[in-house]
Amino acid sequence: MVDVILGLQWGDEGKGKIVDYFAPNYDMIARFQGGPNAGHTLYVNDKKVVLHQIPSGIFRENKINLIGSGVVLDAVILKKECDAVASFGIDYKKTLFVSERTHLILPSHRAIDRASEAAKGRDKIGSTLKGISPAYMDKTGRNGLRVGDLLDKDFSDKYQKLRNKHQQILDNFSFDEDISQAEKEFFEALEFLKTLKIINGEYFINEAIQSGKKILAEGAQGSMLDVDFGTFPYVTSSNTITAGVCSGLGISPNKIKEVIGITKAYCTRVGSGPFPTELHDEMGEQIRKSGNEFGSTTGRPRRCGWIDLVALNFACMINGVSQLVMTKADVLDEIDTLKICVKYNVDGTETTQVPFQMEGKLLQPVYKEFPGWKSDITKIKNFKDLPTAMHDYITYINSVLGVNVQYISNGPGTDQLVVAL
Ligand code: GDP
Ligand code: IMO
Ligand code: MG
Repeated sequence: MVDVILGLQWGDEGKGKIVDYFAPNYDMIARFQGGPNAGHTLYVNDKKVVLHQIPSGIFRENKINLIGSGVVLDAVILKKECDAVASFGIDYKKTLFVSERTHLILPSHRAIDRASEAAKGRDKIGSTLKGISPAYMDKTGRNGLRVGDLLDKDFSDKYQKLRNKHQQILDNFSFDEDISQAEKEFFEALEFLKTLKIINGEYFINEAIQSGKKILAEGAQGSMLDVDFGTFPYVTSSNTITAGVCSGLGISPNKIKEVIGITKAYCTRVGSGPFPTELHDEMGEQIRKSGNEFGSTTGRPRRCGWIDLVALNFACMINGVSQLVMTKADVLDEIDTLKICVKYNVDGTETTQVPFQMEGKLLQPVYKEFPGWKSDITKIKNFKDLPTAMHDYITYINSVLGVNVQYISNGPGTDQLVVAL
């Protein structure tokens, strides 16, 4: 049996905290896509930790953490993360597993990412510059190197062949940064990677399912960043949606049970691209400030806006969401009037569907206003004790999405989670 936790917006919904919270109920936590573009924050003994590639179950005792085949892996970043995890007394060598089919991010992938974004100028995607797109391009282009290749005696030759190919691309971009130091670190990190448990991920996870183990698949990014269904081309390069769990871990769709979708009580986006409910005013500033909306991976300020039920409804549909988690509800504590986007007006016509082209002045969000609750909810433990105005806000969202908010996160702390009755 496999449950899924994923983000329904443009990422940073609070997946790290929620996966860490639920991890004790599972035997294995598995990342199925993305790479170090992700930054998943959780607190361990009141200390903040940001994980990029290691699943967010790593701090829970006796849990297996799997980096699945659908992930693209940066060995240098992984090594640093492992050191950070070890500093909490975690013996990751026992609990961290890497699929042999996982693709490697090379230093030249990162260079191509930088060169490509620079060449795009004003049209840049706003990539995290971690080499994600070039690594996935080499996967679908059938050139990439995988973790399993490390054990091959021809690895150096394979590396050099791909490196030469990358040099041609970099030459086309007239990119002349020296990446030799990064390559040195890369090869050192590969030696470290080889000391981890490299396994056949598909048999590993299916045998676990067969023997009755409970698996939690941890999404990265968010549904609106999905390469097929997000705001293309301003997306990431993987399938961030439930379907990605099957292709990224090698499991069949009928093994998936609960799909737990996370949304913030409002909405954020980091990087370029359409964001219909974005606030360019004081209110946006206020949300950024009280929500501390700065990227966990890049530190960039996140764009902030109201919750968007058109986009959320779409995300619930394509993911088959069966439960909702609403995070960062406390960030709205001081706001007088809240807005919920219920429709888009596209060139004079109202719609509740996400259009092919979300960008542009022709698309205007249509809002319904709700009175704010204007009280501190961060210490509330029981659903019934949440303010009435908040109950109304949530009840309305439930009614539109046809899925209920089951958990409300009212602070970054692991214990700040209210269960809806
Ligand atoms: P992820 O990428 O989905 O794991 O989310 P990030 O970790 O990038 O960003 C979420 C941020 O919000 C982190 O700094 C969390 O510590 C914080 N956070 C999570 N839940 C809450 C919440 O309910 N309230 C507040 N105020 N912060 C939260
Ligand atoms: P988590 O898992 C928010 C965004 C980037 C950029 C676009 C493409 O922490 O929610 P990429 O590096 O993938 O080529 O960037 O996607 N992006 C994220 N935004 N949270 C993330 O991950 C993201 N990962 C990528 O900002 O707009
Ligand atoms: Mg994040």
